[in-house]
Amino acid sequence: MVNVHCLNNIASCGLDLFTADYNTESSYEDANAVLVRSAKMHDLDLSNNLVAIARAGAGVNNIPLEKCAEAGVVVFNTPGANANAVKEQVLATMLLASRDLIGGNKWVEENKADADIAKATEKAKKAFAGREIAGKKLGVIGLGAIGQLVANAAISLGMEVYGYDPYLSVAAALNLSREVKHVIDVNDIYKECNYITVHVPALDSTKGMIGKEAFELMQDGTVVINCARDVLVDEDVIGDYLKSGRVKCYVSDFPNPKTANMEGALVFPHLGASSAEAEDNCAVMAVKQIRDFIENGNIKNS
Ligand code: MLT
Repeated sequence: MVNVHCLNNIASCGLDLFTADYNTESSYEDANAVLVRSAKMHDLDLSNNLVAIARAGAGVNNIPLEKCAEAGVVVFNTPGANANAVKEQVLATMLLASRDLIGGNKWVEENKADADIAKATEKAKKAFAGREIAGKKLGVIGLGAIGQLVANAAISLGMEVYGYDPYLSVAAALNLSREVKHVIDVNDIYKECNYITVHVPALDSTKGMIGKEAFELMQDGTVVINCARDVLVDEDVIGDYLKSGRVKCYVSDFPNPKTANMEGALVFPHLGASSAEAEDNCAVMAVKQIRDFIENGNIKNS
């Protein structure tokens, strides 16, 4: 009997793929494998029967990678399985940062008791007028599974798209629309683009990459979108750039006391991968990886 311990939000459709030889009610201590979404695993005791951890998501910063490597525990993630959900969130927030639909809806809520609301609408139309994204420049930093989808979708929405990725694979390059302009210096993105979205992992080399130097290069009214990892943007300085108007809107998928109170920030509770489809895709991929590893010894991160 193989024991698989399942932590938060691993959809049951994934668990159904385990056969009777698997015990998915297993406790942590007995586990041969652990399936996890976002819970932090750093205190995990590896001195037991554990052979594999599968992370139902792309980032692995909640897993103690070095500790796992030393203990011979194989770590999987599910690259691409939630990419479409994150792409859709990026597009939605780019539109929300451009058209004040949230403000307009709040206005209707506040004025719904007014019998003359239809009359007042003329004023509201002016107050909440926005700008279109078609014809604007979007910079995509990081052209992995999510960055590629965002870049291609933005092209189809009529945007001019600049892409930056020093580690771009041939496969990724072939997936990208030919209309995406590749830059070899990320500063060109900061200088040129009206919208900038970041899709790189949280590493020592990427921490704070969008900081003072980057903001100084941006044009007034730039929209910065961070649905990747909070540490990528220097949140100690972005408030100043929001105040000055250099940054028109900071979209962050990471609420904390700083971003939640930041005027001009559009903050969400890490919803990027929270679609029914993405949760199912990640769960199914994670379960298949664990099963294929335990039954066949295969280590395949897809
Ligand atoms: C990811 O790394 O793919 C996301 O953080 C997934 C999630 O929100 O569960």
